[in-house]
Amino acid sequence: MSLDQLRFAVIGCGSIGSRHAQNLRALGAPDLALCDSDRARAVQLASALDAQVATDDLDALLVGYRPNAVLVCTPPGAHLAVAMRALEAGAHVLCEEPLAPTLDGVDELLDLAERQQRFIMMGMCHRFHGGLRRLQQRIVGGTVGRLLGAQMWTGHYLPDRHPSADYRAGSSAEGRLEDGVLLDGIHALDTLRWALGEPVDVLGMLGKVSDLDINAEDLAAAILRLENGAIVEVHVDHLQRHAVSRCEVIGSEGNLVWDSSRQAVRWRRSDDVGWSEERVSVDTNEMYVAELCEFIDCVASGRRPALDGAEGRATLALASAVRTAAESKRLISLPVRPRPFVAADS
Ligand SMILES: NC(=O)c1ccc[n+]([C@@H]2O[C@H](COP(=O)([O-])OP(=O)(O)OC[C@H]3O[C@@H](n4cnc5c(N)ncnc54)[C@H](O)[C@@H]3O)[C@@H](O)[C@H]2O)c1
Repeated sequence: MSLDQLRFAVIGCGSIGSRHAQNLRALGAPDLALCDSDRARAVQLASALDAQVATDDLDALLVGYRPNAVLVCTPPGAHLAVAMRALEAGAHVLCEEPLAPTLDGVDELLDLAERQQRFIMMGMCHRFHGGLRRLQQRIVGGTVGRLLGAQMWTGHYLPDRHPSADYRAGSSAEGRLEDGVLLDGIHALDTLRWALGEPVDVLGMLGKVSDLDINAEDLAAAILRLENGAIVEVHVDHLQRHAVSRCEVIGSEGNLVWDSSRQAVRWRRSDDVGWSEERVSVDTNEMYVAELCEFIDCVASGRRPALDGAEGRATLALASAVRTAAESKRLISLPVRPRPFVAADS
């Protein structure tokens, strides 16, 4: 099947749903069906993208439009229910992260996908991020020798994330599990798994440390021992006035750094007189387009994506382990898994 024979439906027409819908159109998807529980949102996006269907009735869309593929872009609490209905209707699924707020019901979803012979691909877009991919390739390629340790540091100031909206009216204010910074920042844990290695031991700490007018946690920190022996610190927050995303790697032969503010991967080996630097693209949308291209190719060819529901489950299990470790004040051990999917170079 080619792209012009495929029917896509986007469920949830907010921030990420609109982006995916626009990118699908730009990539040449001939038509789209759009669904949002706030019907006016679906209608507005459909009008901007000249899409055929705009509704708040998911079941009617699935029966009437019969999509080959459904993009689940609702808040996390609705992911499982929407994905299950899409699979039951015979569609493949691209599910935004996190797969669900907790592991409850996740195995049932993965079993359903198997029974229906359809796949779930995870919207873990950082695996398609140019800078993080170059970082991962340099780690695996041995630019700084053997991985010994790392620090991942990510933060932004919540009120600045969507400046046109009042952050206090946003989901983080409601104190639901999925709205705390741990799941909101789950990309960091996912990046850790595919770029650095699988964790086996986890310590965690979570807190609401700021005066932000929200009920959810605004800072999460974890220390992890990886299967390869390295020890990694991860920090995600809703607090930093200047958004930052950085990963510093300690190798047996030198230092390696990805820093979003410099849009570069830098390294300095033990004998180097200075830092070497590789610039990477600054276009954020490129990773979303690369992710969609992988999804479209899998839907069109019937190939199962390597970044599948089991990967989403593993990253969610890691987030759950951080929470359990934080709440119990104990070290949590995880089963060892095979190496996760890494996007090939385009
Ligand atoms: N991969 C990424 O980079 C990235 C970026 C942003 C958000 N996300 C994820 O995407 C998901 C959506 O986030 P967002 O920022 O777009 O949220 P959003 O609030 O902007 O949009 C969510 C939309 O879903 C609609 N909705 C809620 N429940 C629904 C249901 N049951 N059926 C249909 N529509 C429903 C809402 O009305 C809203 O329009 C979340 O899981 C989030 O974690 C991922």
